[in-house]
Amino acid sequence: MMVEAGGLVEQRKDTMTMRHVNSKVRYVNKTIKKLRCKKRKRPVVPRVPRLLQELFVSCREVFKGPGNVPPPFDVDKLRSILDRMKPEDVGLSKNLHFFKAAGAVTGTPRVTYTTIYQCDEFSLCIFFLPANAVIPLHNHPGMTVFSKLLLGKMHIKSYDWVDQVHSEDPVPPSQLRLARLKADSVFTAPCDTSVLYPTTGGNIHQFTAITPCAVLDVLGPPYSKEDDRDCSYYRDIPCSAFPNGETTLSEEDEGDRFGWLEEIQVPENSQMDRIEYLGPQVAENSL
Ligand SMILES: [Fe+2]
Repeated sequence: MMVEAGGLVEQRKDTMTMRHVNSKVRYVNKTIKKLRCKKRKRPVVPRVPRLLQELFVSCREVFKGPGNVPPPFDVDKLRSILDRMKPEDVGLSKNLHFFKAAGAVTGTPRVTYTTIYQCDEFSLCIFFLPANAVIPLHNHPGMTVFSKLLLGKMHIKSYDWVDQVHSEDPVPPSQLRLARLKADSVFTAPCDTSVLYPTTGGNIHQFTAITPCAVLDVLGPPYSKEDDRDCSYYRDIPCSAFPNGETTLSEEDEGDRFGWLEEIQVPENSQMDRIEYLGPQVAENSL
């Protein structure tokens, strides 16, 4: 695989690039002009980056479908692969214009995403956030999610519910629920993979791009309205004290930070643009 300045990823006669148009990121097909050459060139055989293929094969082994959470050994295996992955493994480069664009984005910057692969058990997606773009506070019901920041600088805030609620006992949308703050930090690529679980690890999170970012997400299983894994959105009210001085916190909770979370309608800035994935393809028949 060759990565040119400007982020052009060449794998075939058609090449793929991404560009930043009106604050949106695009993969664009470009055709290489055929050179007049007496000697016929051998066709370029598409090659899957080793780590991307390793990630795909491991996901097939690890994710057993809805209701299953990968055991620690399998989580470590996926985390180890993702920790080593680089932008070039999914056809990206820091030299892309999108990642060099500085400020001057008019209106609310929209997030773009692309799906590398999806099945019932897991999905591999990349999210592109221009500077100042936000993926608002949202949950991942029944899911285990690996997030690898490939490029850029991003603030991540995440929460877990203090008290779990069973699905047969739903919380009214307008009700505030107490959540424990798990992360409230700035991450700069390259950095380690973060993992969240159905009830721990910061299942409810928000991404705010400080610079243009690309995040590779592995979701197992993916969102599904039919299977009751739709995405809910929240607004958070940081709290340093409890109403009327009441507290249900144990000594173990002391020192933790909390927030009141209220479920909200789907926010406008959660709307994303989807683009076709034209980076290196995984080989499904390699098992
Ligand atoms: Fe998420």
